[in-house]
Amino acid sequence: MQRFIDPEVEGYAERYTPKGPELLDELEKETIATMELPQMLSGHLSGRFLKMLCLINQPKTILEIGTYVGYSALCMAETLPEDGRLITCDINETYTKLAKKYFAKSPHGHKIELKMGPAVDTINALDCEIDLAFIDADKESYKQNYELVLTKLKRGGIIAIDNCLWSGRVVRPSSEEDLAIHELNELIQRDERVENVIVTVRDGINVVCKK
Ligand SMILES: C[S@@+](CC[C@H](N)C(=O)[O-])C[C@H]1O[C@@H](n2cnc3c(N)ncnc32)[C@H](O)[C@@H]1O
Repeated sequence: MQRFIDPEVEGYAERYTPKGPELLDELEKETIATMELPQMLSGHLSGRFLKMLCLINQPKTILEIGTYVGYSALCMAETLPEDGRLITCDINETYTKLAKKYFAKSPHGHKIELKMGPAVDTINALDCEIDLAFIDADKESYKQNYELVLTKLKRGGIIAIDNCLWSGRVVRPSSEEDLAIHELNELIQRDERVENVIVTVRDGINVVCKK
C-alpha cells in the first residue's frame, strides 16, 4: 500500500498519537506472523482515528463491515459503554478465528457480536438503528453497503469508509475495484443526505455524516 505522507513525518504522527492497549500490539504481531494479507489490519494511526471518531460521536451501536482479525473492532469497542454493542461481520473463518481469540482476551470483547456471512445479510438483519459504521470489506460491494448502511444510520450518525484513496489509484481508475471506490466517492460528494470529508490517513478514510 502506498503511503501518502513522508515516512519521517508519518513516524512523527505515530509517535505523537497515543499507543493503543498492548493487546493490539500482540494481535498485530500474531497477524504478521501467521496470517495472509496482514496489511489489511488497520494499524495504529487508523485505529486511533476510528477510536477518536467514536469519542466524538459517542455511539452506543456500531456496525463494522469486514472484521478480519478484529483490530479495528477492538479499537472502536474501547469507547463503548457497558450496554453498547458493536456488530461486526465477515465471511472468512480463518481470519475471524484469530479475532475471536482476541475478543475473548480484551476487556471490551464482550461488547462485540461477530456475525458470519455476507455483509448484506448482516445489514438487512439488523434489529436496531446504528450510530456509527465502519465499511472495510470487498470494494465491489462498497456502493451497495453504503446505501444499505445509510438506511440504518441515525441522523447525525457517521460512516467511515476505508481505502477511499486506494493507494492513489482512484485518481486514474482502471480496474473494477479502482472504479468502484472512485464511483462511491463521487456518489457521496453528490449525495444531499450527507456531508463528508476524505481524510488522508493511511489509505484514505471517507468520513460521512448523515444530515
Ligand atoms: C480489510 S479487511 C478488514 C480489516 C479490519 N476492519 C481492520 O481494520 O483491522 C476486509 C475483510 O472483509 C471481509 N469480507 C470480504 N467480503 C465480505 C463480505 N461480502 N461480507 C463481509 N465481509 C467480507 C474479508 O474476509 C476481510 O476479512
